Amino acid sequence: MSKMSSLQIKQVGPGFVGEVSGLDISKPLTPVDVAAISAGMDAQAVLVFRGQNLTNDQQLAFTNALGHLEDVVATSLRAADDNRLPAVFADVSNLDKDNKTFALDDRRRLFAIGNRLWHSDSSFKVIPARYSLLYSHSVTSRGGNTEFANMRMAYDAFDQETKDLVEDLVCEHSQIFSRQKLGFTDFSPEERERFKPVLQRLVRTHPSTGKKSIYLSSHAGTILDWPTPEARALLLDLIEHATQREFTYAHQWQVGDLVMWDNQQTMHRSRPYPHNEARDMRRTTLAGAAPTVDQQSA
Ligand code: OGA
Ligand code: MN
Repeated sequence: MSKMSSLQIKQVGPGFVGEVSGLDISKPLTPVDVAAISAGMDAQAVLVFRGQNLTNDQQLAFTNALGHLEDVVATSLRAADDNRLPAVFADVSNLDKDNKTFALDDRRRLFAIGNRLWHSDSSFKVIPARYSLLYSHSVTSRGGNTEFANMRMAYDAFDQETKDLVEDLVCEHSQIFSRQKLGFTDFSPEERERFKPVLQRLVRTHPSTGKKSIYLSSHAGTILDWPTPEARALLLDLIEHATQREFTYAHQWQVGDLVMWDNQQTMHRSRPYPHNEARDMRRTTLAGAAPTVDQQSA
């Protein structure tokens, strides 16, 4: 007997964000639910699940039901013994391991301000992220929206000359580049080694929809065989184009929201919020299937 999923998806915003209702994601998903969510992600790119109530384990179980978690590698400036959350989580909060907000000049806080630049998660990894799932345990009194920009819509809106120009370009991505843009440069030799650049195509084809999108991220710092200033100027122009209002959506957080986005066809950024208020956000991340480019082509 075939069974329909109880979930419903209502489109909000400029045509790539769906609000999901009729599903308690703290409970195990049926294969029908999984299929409906996957189809929803392909049709939309961002899905919002409001009014959820998740423990860490439940968030992990939901994430695991949808794909393969990224390998655990240290990508922040938090030392291993400094983690507030299990290592499979990206701690997107402004909290130390005692749940105290970071001081204004805390290095971990300053590094995390990199999230205010438009980016795609883990574009600095050889195999970049597929979906990110960010769940809110607390929100601030104001600010702190997360904004999304659709890279497929942005690509489609390029003129033919731009499409031809970017088609075969390959960029180097590193967290050092994104932080450099903010004037954050005090990396230790160990961090510089850990954050060394990887290659990503500038145009990618979505593995399930077959649609092309521009693969931008503030972690991109150079284009292979281009002079760096020219590369950066082009990347800035492309980001400006891709983040026009008509391609973007702002999510205003409530406690209990889980937002899932497809890094293969979107960028996102956080907006500022009062630094002395707790913003407890926890991210789980699914890995992509493969590198976007052979890393030896450098
Ligand atoms: C992330 C991220 C933005 C935010 O979780 O990957 O960039 O608003 N978050 O916290
Ligand atoms: Mn991010």
